[in-house]
Amino acid sequence: MTFLPRTNNAAFLIVLIFVEALFATFQSYAAPPCTPVGLTCEHLLNPLGIDAPAPRLSWRLDDTRKGAKQTAYQLYVGTDSVEVSRGKANVWQLGKVMLDTQLSTYAGKTLQPFTKYYWRIDAWDKDGKPSASSVASFETGLMNSKNWQGSWISDGTDVALKPAPYFRKTFETTKKIKSARAYIAAGGLYELSLNGKKVGNHRLDPMYTRFDRRTLYVAYDVTSQLQNGKNAIGVLLGNGWYNHQSTAVWFFDKAPWRARPTFCLDLRITYTDGSVETITSGKDWKTALSPIIFNSIYTAEHYDARLEQPGWNTVPFDDSKWKDIIYRAAPSTNIVAQAVHPIRNVETIPARSITKINDTVFVYDLGRTIAGVSQIRVKGLAGTTLRLKHAERLYKNGRVDQSNIDAHYRPTDTTDPFQTDIFILSGKGEETFMPHFNYKGFQYVEVTSSHPIELVKENLTGYFMHSDVPVAGQVKSANPTLDKIWWATNNSYLSNLFGYPTDCPQREKNGWTGDAHIAIETGLYNFDGITIYEKWLADHRDEQQPNGVLPSIIPTGGWGYEWGNGPDWTSTIALIPWNIYLFYGDNKILADNYNNIKRYVDHINEQSPSGLTSWGLGDWVPVKSKSPVEFTSSIYYFTDVSILAKTAKLLGKQGDSGLYSALATKIKNAFNAKYLNKETGSYGSGLQTELSTPLVWGLVPDELKSKVAANLAKRVEEDNNHIDVGLLGTKAILNALSENGHSDLAYKVASQETFPSWGWWIANGATTLYENWPIDAKSDISMNHIMFGEIGAWYYKALGGIKPDPMQPGFKNVLLEPHFVTGLDHFEATHNGPQGMIRSLWKRSGKGVTYSVTIPPNSTATLKLPNSAASQKLQAGTYQFDVTL
Ligand code: BGC
Repeated sequence: MTFLPRTNNAAFLIVLIFVEALFATFQSYAAPPCTPVGLTCEHLLNPLGIDAPAPRLSWRLDDTRKGAKQTAYQLYVGTDSVEVSRGKANVWQLGKVMLDTQLSTYAGKTLQPFTKYYWRIDAWDKDGKPSASSVASFETGLMNSKNWQGSWISDGTDVALKPAPYFRKTFETTKKIKSARAYIAAGGLYELSLNGKKVGNHRLDPMYTRFDRRTLYVAYDVTSQLQNGKNAIGVLLGNGWYNHQSTAVWFFDKAPWRARPTFCLDLRITYTDGSVETITSGKDWKTALSPIIFNSIYTAEHYDARLEQPGWNTVPFDDSKWKDIIYRAAPSTNIVAQAVHPIRNVETIPARSITKINDTVFVYDLGRTIAGVSQIRVKGLAGTTLRLKHAERLYKNGRVDQSNIDAHYRPTDTTDPFQTDIFILSGKGEETFMPHFNYKGFQYVEVTSSHPIELVKENLTGYFMHSDVPVAGQVKSANPTLDKIWWATNNSYLSNLFGYPTDCPQREKNGWTGDAHIAIETGLYNFDGITIYEKWLADHRDEQQPNGVLPSIIPTGGWGYEWGNGPDWTSTIALIPWNIYLFYGDNKILADNYNNIKRYVDHINEQSPSGLTSWGLGDWVPVKSKSPVEFTSSIYYFTDVSILAKTAKLLGKQGDSGLYSALATKIKNAFNAKYLNKETGSYGSGLQTELSTPLVWGLVPDELKSKVAANLAKRVEEDNNHIDVGLLGTKAILNALSENGHSDLAYKVASQETFPSWGWWIANGATTLYENWPIDAKSDISMNHIMFGEIGAWYYKALGGIKPDPMQPGFKNVLLEPHFVTGLDHFEATHNGPQGMIRSLWKRSGKGVTYSVTIPPNSTATLKLPNSAASQKLQAGTYQFDVTL
């Protein structure tokens, strides 16, 4: 035995500790090759305020090995996180299930309201080795309207009163707070604050619904905002769509639910001794008018800073001059959780330039078109009035031009100028204003001051607002115009996502159904939007009439049941659920809407026994040629019936499945009998829309497909390789070409930079998509419309070749068919689906193409390369192919 001197002994110890630490680090890095990750409940990460009695739990695998897959799984749900992490569950334990599914619907003990549940998933990998996820959670909300303790309160003033009301209450806690949740439901919009600070970072909550049929509430964890002892709650209410005071052609002001804004609040405090106290909205609240002297979701907000009441939402504030509140009826009896990605100020856009017109007029340019708000920071004399006029374009003299967006506004006087915030300064140092209850579509802000003022670029900032849905896809190519179109498409998509999909963020803010189903694939390839669409389909169910009819805009105050609501628009009832099913592999939305799709289809069937229908608007805003309305509407009718038949089969409704398959065949036959020339392989008068829509929606007999496609290609070439379609045609034209052997031509059309094309807009400086092909169109020329946005999906489908497989939806099997189009040197698309990241990348090299693809774990792909007749099956993993062309 060797003797080590003391000093060396110490050194030995240090080395030992070091080695041990290294080993521990190594162990923690050497994570199992397969781990379940990305746990979501109702498609949200660790959500609060879940009302679903059987929430959906989903996860992914982190496993980069080739052929990675899940062979089995097991689930634990319990109320004790430590127990759950140890594999013990007091609420639901789902024993080992020999399935590769990554979505499981809760089926344990009845979930209780106000309860945090922890869950964990164990997954067995391809070799049968199990590994555990870390613990995730979801917390239930009120679950039932009966659980509300608060009262609906309001300030009791008239719908016409303009200023927005404040509400406040103080309370004292005597015990130590363990946790606290605020639940707030509103008719109108709210901003909630505790002890002087706004709760959360949502904007424009709650989202627009048919308030008299469904009212949303929002849950917050407010533990850190409460203090032991005295506390103050403040609520500021805005009008939103609930009390629409501005007047436009859609009669928002006549909505049946219209009333002075109201809210109900439960602040549920759990103390460390386990007891619970709920502070509620009720008679002991006080109210006063706020400095927001006018607010309209549609037009703007006016704010008089001289009326500010500093500290109104803090404890020491003296509210002796404030009024008592009044009790109000709830807007509806159906108060449900808003379990969706909220609207936020997502992106900060500094002004790019400022132009001084004179001492009192300045024009700001953000450099891009957005939906959202501007914030101004200024110093000036008390009473100085600033008017901030927002617009998408400028007149030649440099002043803002609203003539493309105020067309449907019908003001009754001059007090409510369109998209113009009014800010009256208090004169107390530097002051900031950003509207609370409004958003706009704009690139330019013209600031007019009642007194000469000094403004610089930094005084104004733009905020891009939208439903803050996670990004799910990315496209990159060798063609900068193509990339810019993709970016512009996403900008327009997001500008039109505010808890429901809209047509444009300025002129209308309407939930136009047609625009939304055209853009659904673009939306889903690029963003994780399921929560918004599930909410919007609930809006559909609220609006559907007993005879199946839906309005053309959803939600609506009543407008749209008479105009624009044929199947070419309101097929959202079938198309949105079907696409959600394809992209997520989750059939809940189909099941939830099954009877609604059926009622809708049955109505058309009753009205149109021949199988053809002329109900609709047709190929809206065409370049020059318009196909017959009966042609396009009957195609959408056929599509809905086909979706219904497939859904019936999926849900095990065999009778319906047979019935509706037969109806689909009948419509197809009637359609082809009337419009198809079997000799020539042409439809109707051979327009681009007429030739492309039957191909894409599956009405062309197999044996005639290539003939019809050849006719389409010829037609496009005769149109100088440019589009001649409207809204419904844009959905089909590029796909019809690339899916039927003409992908080079599709690319030519998609990448044009001359009129009419998407690239023409880009060449003229567009950062969003427009509503009309000519830039100088005299009407229908909003500069932020998503309705021509299918091109964003086409990139993924045709160039990247990534498509969901209807037989194994949710990209469980990816249909991969990239097209290496002439004229493009490389292209890359990634889509983060339910199983993980799918990547499809190709690059030209020499005479061929190098194609790389990544298939996420627990999924497969069917790859069809252009040079081979047969397709091949790929397991999870990354592959590279050298393709000779
Ligand atoms: C909207 C469109 C909509 C159309 C229907 C327009 O005013 O902006 O996007 O689909 O009306 O007719």
